[in-house]
Amino acid sequence: MAKAVVILGAQWGDEGKGKIVDALTEKADVVARYQGGHNAGHTVVIGEETFILHLIPSGILHEDKLCIIGNGVVINPSALIEEINGLKERGIKVNRNLRISKNAHLIMPYHMAIEREKEALKGKKKIGTTGRGIGPAYMDKMARVGIRVADLLYPEVLKEKIEANLRDVNFLLSNLYKADTFTTEEIYNEYIGYAEILANYIDDTDILINRLLDEGKNVLFEGAQGTLLDIDHGTYPYVTSSSATAGGVCTGLGIGPTKIDTVLGVVKAYTTRVGGGPFPTEIHDEFGEKLRERGGEFGATTGRPRRCGWLDMVALRHAVRINGLGGLIITKLDILDGLEKIKVCFGYEYNGKVYEDFPKELSVLEGCKPIYKEYEGWHEATLGVNEYDALPDNAKKYIEMIEDSLGVPVDIISTGQKRDDIIIRKVHFD
Ligand code: IMO
Ligand code: MG
Repeated sequence: MAKAVVILGAQWGDEGKGKIVDALTEKADVVARYQGGHNAGHTVVIGEETFILHLIPSGILHEDKLCIIGNGVVINPSALIEEINGLKERGIKVNRNLRISKNAHLIMPYHMAIEREKEALKGKKKIGTTGRGIGPAYMDKMARVGIRVADLLYPEVLKEKIEANLRDVNFLLSNLYKADTFTTEEIYNEYIGYAEILANYIDDTDILINRLLDEGKNVLFEGAQGTLLDIDHGTYPYVTSSSATAGGVCTGLGIGPTKIDTVLGVVKAYTTRVGGGPFPTEIHDEFGEKLRERGGEFGATTGRPRRCGWLDMVALRHAVRINGLGGLIITKLDILDGLEKIKVCFGYEYNGKVYEDFPKELSVLEGCKPIYKEYEGWHEATLGVNEYDALPDNAKKYIEMIEDSLGVPVDIISTGQKRDDIIIRKVHFD
């Protein structure tokens, strides 16, 4: 039986990871985030209440589970405090059950400002980011000028680093972008205030998580974004700036690959993408809009309408390979209820050539035509179905087609927003 399980997005994010992590948390002791920031929006519906989590692992909604924000995450302290307070106001306990890595990098006010200017300059080629300062924060991390959570505990160091960074940042803002600049004092005063509030949560999370794994605790690793938004393996440059794929778990938390038992990929029964960039199976007619309405496909973080399309096996094969997926979790199957026909893409055609493997070149991805196979839909409702055998035959055929063509079992199927709308075919924790 598995002890350390990764749950990550196999598409362009918004696959329904939050709900799945929440469902599996019951048997977990620890839930840990390893990358991304508050660009993520993980929706969990419990009874009549909807929670949207951005930075805090979805496990926080269960009492007595330890939640860890790893070093690979970028943290906007004001957003984190807002999220903590919002949860507390709704009766969710947040205290020593939340631990934040000393090595996680901080998103600073100038990161948002730089991102805004960079995106504006790109015009039509803009990435369509969430505007949270994620990219510039990771740029500073890689450029070795980032400010880390631990720096909040050392006021002198914090001040020095802000001052040093503002020398470059203000030059850029005023001379290149003709935008407002920042003073060390204003940022320092703001951040020292956050330090006081967050101090009790700050920890050596690498030591903590390795100890918990050694003790045989059940650990869930919660991915944000998805495989095709990964900085290395996604549709670069239309990606986020972190390692959303399985490799990110190790660097983003400080654990060895030998500690991970399995990786489960969350796959929406169709495909969505928010922001710019190639999306071969995007539906451009009114059926795409219908799918958006039925699936409630509006961003949980920015409220933007998501682009909708058919299931893409070329992209999914890539996700299986890059992440070494051991199981699949299909979500939102119920959204396909009542369709006459369902299309599935098995290849791309570009300039007379057929691609069965996900192309690396942006030009191919942008210009290719999907090669579809059509499947019969089902008329019965799958909403809320809890048993695999109770699914309509054609829904089962759809699931089995996915398993067969990817060579990976579908372990879990989500059939609605609620906690109980789920079919569990394989239990991953004891
Ligand atoms: P969850 O965890 C879907 C997208 C943005 C943009 C690109 C880069 O809820 O699945 P960024 O702000 O990260 O620099 O934006 O990535 N994006 C997401 N799309 N789900 C997400 O998170 C996303 N987080 C970022 O729309 O295209
Ligand atoms: Mg989301």
